[in-house]
Amino acid sequence: MNSWSIREAADKCGLSLDTVRWYEKVGLVGPIERDPNGRRRFGDADIDRLILLRRLRATGMPIRELQHYAELVRSGAGEFERLEVLRRHREFVVESSATQQEYVRLLDKKIRIYQDRLRQMPRAERSRMETTKLGELAVPVQGLGCMGMSEWRGPTDWDSSVKTIHRALDLGVTFLDTADVYGAGHNEVLVGRAISGRRDQVQVATKFGIDRSAGRSPAIRRGEAGYVKRACEASLLRLGIDVIDLYYLHRPPQTAEIEETVGAMAELVAEGKVRHLGLSEVDADLLRRAHAVHPITAVQSEYSLWAREVEFTVLDAMRELGVGLVPYSPLGRGYLTGTIDAGAQDARRGNPRFAAVADHAAANQAIIDAVRSVADVRGAAPAQVALAWVHAQSDRLGVPVVPIPGTKRVERLEQNVAALELSLTADELTLLDSLADTATGDSPTLRH
Ligand SMILES: NC(=O)c1ccc[n+]([C@@H]2O[C@H](COP(=O)([O-])OP(=O)(O)OC[C@H]3O[C@@H](n4cnc5c(N)ncnc54)[C@H](OP(=O)(O)O)[C@@H]3O)[C@@H](O)[C@H]2O)c1
Repeated sequence: MNSWSIREAADKCGLSLDTVRWYEKVGLVGPIERDPNGRRRFGDADIDRLILLRRLRATGMPIRELQHYAELVRSGAGEFERLEVLRRHREFVVESSATQQEYVRLLDKKIRIYQDRLRQMPRAERSRMETTKLGELAVPVQGLGCMGMSEWRGPTDWDSSVKTIHRALDLGVTFLDTADVYGAGHNEVLVGRAISGRRDQVQVATKFGIDRSAGRSPAIRRGEAGYVKRACEASLLRLGIDVIDLYYLHRPPQTAEIEETVGAMAELVAEGKVRHLGLSEVDADLLRRAHAVHPITAVQSEYSLWAREVEFTVLDAMRELGVGLVPYSPLGRGYLTGTIDAGAQDARRGNPRFAAVADHAAANQAIIDAVRSVADVRGAAPAQVALAWVHAQSDRLGVPVVPIPGTKRVERLEQNVAALELSLTADELTLLDSLADTATGDSPTLRH
């Protein structure tokens, strides 16, 4: 005759230890034999009973009925009553399975309605469900850069910017990028107002460290612990939120060692004011030093098909440490969209890549011509090709890549979201890959 311990019996019957103990306590099985050491030993008949109990319970037999049934079994008599109990329960199971079938039909109907709706949606809108992870932070595969809604990218308009952010959230573009320096706080106030009432849907990323309080130029890159704490309090206040999802150091600090700065950022995490830490425009050495103080979730750097410096300056360390890339200016500050000329009438005038130096303008024009040639074949906009190239890099780089194209206009936002449905061919990627080497004019990262 077989004999099993309580653990073996539980395993054999697909029950937990606690359930077997409880069944014994309420008299559904037992009395169970004990060995000389007082430990339970379950025989074949106990196992059969436990399995039957599990099945009866799974099909909804009430405990009182089970106890009644167990009592009949224990007494050794009452075969007729046992048969009655089982017949009654069978009727109940048949009835409830008919109800369950009805529920299944209703669920199928509801699922079909949602599937049809999804099928009818443009793929760009369906992409709202696509998310990825920067460290532990879940974000959509594309975010929205909000800087241009306050400065640096031509005329601004509060209302249309707020509408653009609302449309972004509706499309699932919930990863919003701002900084305390954009519009000297204006941008954080704008983002805060736009997300009010929808905070839970949004991942707010902001930055500190560029101090323009003494004027725009030269800005001081600050990182003293006290400054970090004050900057965070001020950002929280302007954004109208209690916690920042991703808090970046905007530039390597001139006023403190990186360890001091990241140490203060880590304290903000401990205080619950910040969830994750990021760095913008750092090299591998600085990233490693920072990461040794507190895990870094993302590096935000300029990255596009004409600006690929990160691949040489920091990528190895990012891969090694599991840090994600948030490419800013993925549209080449607008240039790769083919909609602005080299002499843009805003802050970009100061950028050598846009400069009206004849040579640069001509060389860089060839880049946008190539992007446009791909776009024309694919029936897409150049902006979409530029974004599709960035999205195609994640596997090759070996890190998650979440670009944050900037726009203050709803229709451009929609176009940029639609870029997610454009998958470039190997030939197209090869053509686009070659363009960065032909770009002329430095891309000064201290400017915006
Ligand atoms: N960490 C840093 O140091 C740093 C530096 C720069 C930027 N950033 C962040 O990155 C974000 C994006 O960068 P960015 O603004 O420099 O460059 P970008 O995203 O490469 O380009 C934005 C420019 O392209 C235009 N644009 C956007 N979509 C377009 C489309 N589909 N067709 C035609 N034009 C389009 C925008 O104009 P409209 O707005 O008029 O549509 C804007 O002038 C910023 O908002 C900011 O959050 C961070």
